[in-house]
Amino acid sequence: MTSDEILAKYGELGKDIREVLITEEQIRQKVVELGEQISRDYAGKNPVLVGVLKGVLFLMADLLRVITIPNEVDFLAVASYSAEARQRGMVRLIKDLEIPIDGRHVLFVEDVIDTGLTLGYLLRNLRDRNPASLEVCVLFNKPAHRLIDIPLKYKGFDLPDRFVVGYGLDYNERYRNLPFIGLLKPDVLKGKGKSEKTPPLF
Ligand code: IMP
Ligand code: MG
Repeated sequence: MTSDEILAKYGELGKDIREVLITEEQIRQKVVELGEQISRDYAGKNPVLVGVLKGVLFLMADLLRVITIPNEVDFLAVASYSAEARQRGMVRLIKDLEIPIDGRHVLFVEDVIDTGLTLGYLLRNLRDRNPASLEVCVLFNKPAHRLIDIPLKYKGFDLPDRFVVGYGLDYNERYRNLPFIGLLKPDVLKGKGKSEKTPPLF
């Protein structure tokens, strides 16, 4: 299918997309590669995969299905604050893990890392619980605005300094269900929901 045909299939949502940056097939291949690496590295370790709701939903579901070793999965949820608030270390957990991770091998699975502030806070929080190991797997890495150096053991794609949607990533809660990564048209980003959160960059 051409890019136009794919967008046409998504009707109202597809109309808002300016360009497909990463296709469904490219994402699928990358997730399979990551799953193979993780299955090799964590064999015999029964890792706990931890994700932050809701953006990681699609990555977690697809990654789990290509991981071939025993594992457990758990989720955190955080309240979203402004970038300024996050910079002061303000991240509020609104849902904690249900699995105790003391002595466990923890793999933090993230859909996208931009500044790294949210993830930096969460990693400190998890490290305090004394896991046997703590590593990060990120599918979409946006290095342009990184404020905190976070070692990424497993990395999918480096993204340009643009606001993207799809594969779990939203703009005002919309577009998560698109199976590809796309750029929104500028009028979509400017026009909608002035009182709602606006993307940092586009
Ligand atoms: P960080 O603390 O700046 O790394 O923020 C990461 C969070 O910002 C992610 O978990 C997403 O919720 C959001 N985010 C960052 N970049 C994008 C994007 O391009 N599209 C959608 N959400 C994004
Ligand atoms: Mg996230």
